[in-house]
Amino acid sequence: MTQVPDEPWARLLDAAREVARRAYAPYSRFQVGAAALVDDGRLVVGCNVENAAYGVTLCAECGLVSALHAGGGGRLTHFVCVDGSDRVIMPCGRCRQLLSEHGGPDLLVLARSGVTPMSQVLPDAFGPDSLGPG
Ligand code: THU
Repeated sequence: MTQVPDEPWARLLDAAREVARRAYAPYSRFQVGAAALVDDGRLVVGCNVENAAYGVTLCAECGLVSALHAGGGGRLTHFVCVDGSDRVIMPCGRCRQLLSEHGGPDLLVLARSGVTPMSQVLPDAFGPDSLGPG
């Protein structure tokens, strides 16, 4: 991976790798752990939770966003997710939309190619402002 600053990424990677171990992924056997910093300094995590009705699966990012709000809300500032082999992965399309809502274009995402703002991960995103008057 491209060299990235230790702070805050080493801590987030540790948290994502740890929570990936708790994923419930008996169908795909693909564990995902996600970790993010909140603008008040909190760290929130999530893991994927699959279902026998496959389409009901919750991505790790869903749990993370739920933890964000359950813990008091706020804005995501830094995000990373990893697979069960500890490799950094990119959020799926749906989760890019989910993360964009709660971090906006300046949310920093750790990609294998380096730290990337959400404005590049999901360019020209549909968001709360899109619902306003023309
Ligand atoms: N998965 C996530 O948790 N987040 C993503 O961004 C990509 C996919 C999960 C869903 C499913 O449990 C497994 O990875 C395989 O697709």
